[in-house]
Amino acid sequence: MIKIVKLTNKSGIVVELINIGATIKSIKLPNKKGILENITLTHASDGAYLKNNGYFGSTVGRTSGRILDSKYILNGKEYVIEDARNGLHGGKEGFSFKEFEIVEESSSSVTFKYFSADLEGGYPGNLDVVVEYILNEDNQLLINYQGNSDQDTLLNLTNHSYFNLSGDACDLILDHQLVIEGSHKLEVDSRLLPTGELIPVDGTIYDFNQPKKIRSIFKGKSLSEDFLGLDDTWILDGKIILVNKNKKRRMTIETTYPAVVIYTLNFPSDQLLDNGSRTKMHHGICFECQFEPNGINIDKFNSAILRQNKTYKHQIKYTFEMGEQ
Ligand code: GLA
Repeated sequence: MIKIVKLTNKSGIVVELINIGATIKSIKLPNKKGILENITLTHASDGAYLKNNGYFGSTVGRTSGRILDSKYILNGKEYVIEDARNGLHGGKEGFSFKEFEIVEESSSSVTFKYFSADLEGGYPGNLDVVVEYILNEDNQLLINYQGNSDQDTLLNLTNHSYFNLSGDACDLILDHQLVIEGSHKLEVDSRLLPTGELIPVDGTIYDFNQPKKIRSIFKGKSLSEDFLGLDDTWILDGKIILVNKNKKRRMTIETTYPAVVIYTLNFPSDQLLDNGSRTKMHHGICFECQFEPNGINIDKFNSAILRQNKTYKHQIKYTFEMGEQ
């Protein structure tokens, strides 16, 4: 059964969450007239979250991102992630589509829990996962991930919200300013699989260490099938900042994870949104904070192995500044 939980704070921010996939349904900030504007992409119907085409706002797991041929070796044994192309987001048995239990709920926080049985989706170990959302009075939304398994397993949880600070997705995100504090990105092959090489971003379109409009990535290039937008992984040295100057809205992202996959919705797949429009290319931007994708197959990257009886703890923190508008 689909359940919705609503969090609020004194500034009037409203965050809606769904038990399916422990998903962020919407984040609404009040404008200067006090009217709420949604700064995420939200499916038109709650039922759409059962399949969640595009992973709108969902918790992604057991592993985020792509893993070569969906295969990995753990403690000498080969495992295959089920129903997945290159293991993307844990396949059809991924957490985005699972019904989480609500174990605690208040007006400022909610705790979701999911039990993933040994070998579910192609991962060993009976795994307990907890996803906690806290909306505090500093206008921050915290996501706390916790995991415990009775065998060694892989765990690389993220959130797949698409942000658009224009409010109710009225503009594309190309004129948003972006800062990514990161000096290197991962090289990928034609299937978007990290090869293990690190590329310095200095002097490239991927250098966002100083604020730049997202649109700047197309400088000197035209929109073509070869280059539709960002779909890349940065190694983080610090935070990420997204600004909409018209609305004077700003969002800062901080995380305990070493990397972030940034995706500008290059394949919008015609989803109906809550504002009645349909997704367009560059309608939202996703910041998937995580361990390096495919790290289990690349020695120098974090492997995302969660050891038996150890506790997985990671955090993603969004800070919102509403400006004067
Ligand atoms: C998934 C990933 C994104 C992007 C798209 C491309 O949604 O999370 O980063 O790679 O696939 O289809």
